[in-house]
Parts: sequence; C-alpha cells; structure tokens
Amino acid sequence: MCDDIYTCFYQLGVEELEIINIDNVNFTYPDGNKKALKNINLKVNEGEFILIAGPSGCGKSTLIRLLNRIIPDYYGGTLEGNVYINNKDIDDFKKDEIVTNVGMVYQHPEKQIVLQDVEREIAFGLENLNKDINFMKRNVSEVMSLLSLNGIKEKQTDEISGGQKQRVAIASVLAMNPDILLFDEPISQLDPINGEEVLNSIKRLNVDMGKTIILVEQRLDKCFHMADRIIFMENGEIIEEGTSTNIPKSINKKYHLPNIAYVFRQAQNSKLPITVKEGRDAIKDIEFKNIEKDEKNFSNKVLKVDKVNFEYERGSKTLKNINFDLGKGEIMAVMGENGAGKSTLFKIMAGIIEDYKGKIIVDEKNLKKVQYK
Ligand SMILES: Nc1ncnc2c1ncn2[C@@H]1O[C@H](COP(=O)(O)OP(=O)(O)OP(=O)(O)O)[C@@H](O)[C@H]1O
Ligand SMILES: [Mg+2]
Repeated sequence: MCDDIYTCFYQLGVEELEIINIDNVNFTYPDGNKKALKNINLKVNEGEFILIAGPSGCGKSTLIRLLNRIIPDYYGGTLEGNVYINNKDIDDFKKDEIVTNVGMVYQHPEKQIVLQDVEREIAFGLENLNKDINFMKRNVSEVMSLLSLNGIKEKQTDEISGGQKQRVAIASVLAMNPDILLFDEPISQLDPINGEEVLNSIKRLNVDMGKTIILVEQRLDKCFHMADRIIFMENGEIIEEGTSTNIPKSINKKYHLPNIAYVFRQAQNSKLPITVKEGRDAIKDIEFKNIEKDEKNFSNKVLKVDKVNFEYERGSKTLKNINFDLGKGEIMAVMGENGAGKSTLFKIMAGIIEDYKGKIIVDEKNLKKVQYK
C-alpha cells in the first residue's frame, strides 16, 4: 500500500505535528532602548531541522532563548506575545518540565561542563531531577553510544578535545530526553574537523532520533544544506525563509548565505550552489580569463620568529621549532586543530608569555627587550 510509515501517514492525511509556535512576539531587554525581537511569528513542526541565519546582533540568540524560557525567567525584560511548546503556553510549564522538553547547547563547551568525570557530567542534569539510578544509567549509556563517546568514558573532562567536550555537553542535555534541541553557535569555538564532527552528530539526532533542531550558526558553509528550513533574520525581525535549494531572491547578503552561494548570487546566477562540490560542478565549464595572481613583494621584514620552542609543563612541547618571517603589510593565516598551539604562539608574540626558547625580532629589536607602553 505504501513504502514507509511516513508515506502512510501522509496518504492517510495525518497532519504534521506543530511542536513550537511563537506567536506575535516582541521583546526588549531590561536595559535595552530598542526591541531585540519584533513581530516574531514562527511555527515549527515536530522533527524539523531549522537553521537561523543573520548578522551579529540581529536577535538569533534572543529568539531561541524564548524557547527554554530563559527569556524572561533569567534575563527579565518586556515580553509581548505568546510561545507554545506542544500546544501548551510555555508560561504554564514547571521548571523541570522545560528541561525535559527543551535542551540548549551553547557556544563554549567549557562553560557548560561542571564536573571532572565524563559519565557523571552526562548524568548531572538527571541527578538534579532526582531520577532513579537505573534510569540514569540506561539514559547515559544510550546517549554515550549515540554520540560516539564510549571511547572516552574513563577520561576526565579536562583532557578531551574541544569537539569531544561539545559532544559531552550535547550528551548531558540529551540525557534528559528533550524533544527539542536548541544550539547557539555550537561549532564556533571548534576547528573545522571537530566542528564537522559535532554537526554530523546534530544531524544524526535529527534523522535517527527525530529530534526537532533549531540551530543558530554563522558558519553557514557547513550547515546550510543540513537544514529543512532556513529562517533569515535582520534587526530583530524574520525577513524571509527558504530552503537550501530554494533561497528567496531578496536574500543576497554575505551573512545570510554560504560563501559559494554568495559568490554565485553576486554573479546574478539563478542557480545557487551550496556545497563546495556543487560549486566545483557549476564552474567546471567556465573559462577563467585575466585573473592575475596578486604577488606582492614583502621584502621589508617586520617580524622574525626564529627557532621558538615552548612548553607549559616539562615535556609537553607545546611549540616545537617555530620559524617564519612576516613582511610589512603582509597577512598571514595561522591554522591548526584545537590544541595545536595557535593561541600560545600569539601569546608569545604579544609578550604575554616570556619564558620561551628561541628568538623573536620585532622591527629589528629582540622582543624580550621591547618595552610595551
Ligand atoms: N543580555 C542582554 N542585555 C541587553 N541587550 C542584549 C542582551 N543580549 C543581547 N542584547 C541585544 O539584543 C539584540 C540582539 O542580540 P542577540 O545576542 O540576540 O543577537 P545575535 O543575532 O545572537 O548576535 P551574535 O551573532 O553576535 O550572537 C542586540 O541589539 C543586542 O545588543
Ligand atoms: Mg548570538
């Protein structure tokens, strides 16, 4: 009769279930002189994956804070309109009921992790809800498998990578089994590989477990194609919505589009590639002419880093034999995975860490002799 259960439901005319309804919301922070949210109307169906895109300060975080009621419970402010979760006014939820319906994962995993032990950290929220020990064990072990965390079961939370920390933070939220998961820039502190790992986990929670996901992210290249629907915000308002294959014509700003789609939109191309692969396919027949390589000559060296070595603890070898020169006006990118030593190198160059080995010459002076005013 029909191929799968969803097609069956569809053919039987079962309506999709509305899990979130933000109805005519306006919001102003206590010390705010303008509305952070204006006329917000948004309905989300159970199992949808929504991405919210928009420039810094447009109200993305504010919008999702409505959904676990930290606006207004924690932030205060003036809120007009209504928010419904599972057709029930969020004002009528008890505090415990909110955390078991809606979970939020933030930008900095460090700030969410409170305990040393990975397993205990994941069980922490459940402990606070006074759940039965067997129930806790079962939930924790389930979410650990789901997020591929069994390999770090025995580890301490301060000895795992940024990506693993973020997955532990997701696991502790997930252990409470909420239907709705909110993510506020969950990969912005992670390197590309760890970030991708976390995004894949988020996608799995949506596809395999049917969780409703609302993701706020500025790195659109990595997640645009994952979402069922994209909400575009500006100045506290929802200005448009679309899908990765159907982006409204008016959406042409860099902060609303993946880089590759932005380039094609600027070129007034009607079909917008979203991923690098699609971009590669789209340009394969185009002949590039007159693109000259902009090679500048940076002979005037203003910075010389010579055989720099540094370790926080004996034997940790954080920086090993770093050598490079930088010319006046030159722009250099420092790349590397989480924990590779990028920030340590910057701290050394800024004179914050002084007990390094090797030499740093700034404007022909040894950095150790440079006086910072
Ligand atoms: N705690 C706060 N108190 C007062 N005003 C705030 C607070 N948090 C945000 N705002 C203001 O509300 C507006 C929306 O900010 P919000 O943080 O929601 O934007 P955002 O889109 O999440 O930005 P970003 O991409 O930088 O995280 C901005 O004008 C901001 O200055
Ligand atoms: Mg934000």
